[in-house]
Amino acid sequence: MTLYSRITGTGSYLPPRRVSNDELAQELAGRGIETSNEWIVERTGIHARHFVADGVNSSDLALEACRHALEAAGRSAAEVDLIIVATSTPDMVFPSSAAILQHKLGIAGCPAFDVQAVCSGFVYALTVADAMVRTGAAKCALVVGAEVFSRILDFNDRTTCVLFGDGAGAVVLEASDTPGILASDLHADGSHVGILCVPGHVSGGQVLGTPLLHMDGQAVFKLAVRVLEEAARATLAKAGKTEADIDWLIPHQANIRIMHGTAKKLKLGLDKVIVTVHEHGNTSAASIPLALDSAVRDGKVRTGDTVMLEGVGGGFTWGAVLLNL
Ligand code: ACO
Repeated sequence: MTLYSRITGTGSYLPPRRVSNDELAQELAGRGIETSNEWIVERTGIHARHFVADGVNSSDLALEACRHALEAAGRSAAEVDLIIVATSTPDMVFPSSAAILQHKLGIAGCPAFDVQAVCSGFVYALTVADAMVRTGAAKCALVVGAEVFSRILDFNDRTTCVLFGDGAGAVVLEASDTPGILASDLHADGSHVGILCVPGHVSGGQVLGTPLLHMDGQAVFKLAVRVLEEAARATLAKAGKTEADIDWLIPHQANIRIMHGTAKKLKLGLDKVIVTVHEHGNTSAASIPLALDSAVRDGKVRTGDTVMLEGVGGGFTWGAVLLNL
C-alpha cells in the first residue's frame, strides 16, 4: 500500500521581460511617483522582477513550468491524474486556471481545480495534493503556483507596486513507498482581511470596488515573522523533527528581512535559506515553487535533503510543509 507522496520533478518559468529597480523607478517617475533602487534593495532585498506581456495569462506561465517539471520527473502529461493550481490572479473568474492548463497540456478527464490562499497558496495546494495521493485518489499530480500580479498592481502606489512580479513554479507529486511530504501545518485568520487584499469584485457586468492590491506593509510584516516561526515549529513537531534536521528553508519570497528574521528565530544559518526574491520579487503563490526549482537546478537542494517550505499571505493565511526531496 502506498503511504506517502513525493516530489519527483520541479519546474518553473519567468516571463522574459525583466524589469530592474532602476527601470521601474524611471517608469514611476513618469507618473510623478518617486522611488529608488537604493530604497527597494534596502527595505526588501528586491533588485528586479519579471512582468508578463499583454495577453499572457497565469495558465500560460503554468504550462511552461509544468513542462519543465514533467521533463524533470520523466513523466508525460498523459500520466497526470490531478492538477491543482494555486493562484490569486486566474485567467478568468471561471473556469479555473487549472482546467485551462489541463487543456493546454493536451489532456482531459482528471480533476483540476484552483486553490486561493494568496501567497500561502502553494503550501495549501501541496498539502491537499499530498492528502489526495495518500488516500489513493491520485498517483501523479501537478501542483502549481502561477501568478500575474502585475495585472493587479496600483502603479500609483509606491508602497506596493515595487514589491511584486509574475511567474510560475510547479512540482510533480507522485505516490511513493518512501516518505516525501513529512508533515504540514495550515492556518487562516479572516479577521485580517483588510491588511492585504484586492477588494474589487465583478457585479452586473462591472467591477465594483478597487481591483488593485492594497497592503498595510508593516502590519503584514509583524504578523508574518510571528506566524512563520509558529508554523515551522508546529510542522517540525508533527514530523518528530527539530530545527537541526532542516537542510534548507524555502520561505515565501516577499522580503529578505522577513526571511532573515524567520531563520534567526529558528536558529538557522542564512546559508540554509534559499533566496530568490532579489531576482523574482514577490510572485505570491508562485514564489515557493519558483525558489525550489531554482535551488534544485543550481544543485543546492538535492535528492534526500530535508526542506521546510513556508508560506504567508492575504487572508491572513499561513502554513508550512516539511519534506524529504
Ligand atoms: N520608494 C521610496 N520610499 C518609499 C517607498 C518606495 N517604493 N515605499 C514607501 N516609501 C516610504 C514611505 O512613504 C515612508 O516614508 P515616510 O517615513 O516619509 O512616511 C518610508 O518609505 C518608510 O515606509 P515603511 O512602510 O515604514 O517601510 P518599511 O520598512 O515598513 O517597508 C515594506 C515597507 C517593504 C512593504 C515592508 O513593510 C514589508 O515588506 N512588509 C511585508 C510585505 C509582505 O511580506 N507581504 C507578504 C505577503 S504578500 C501577499 O500575500 C500577496
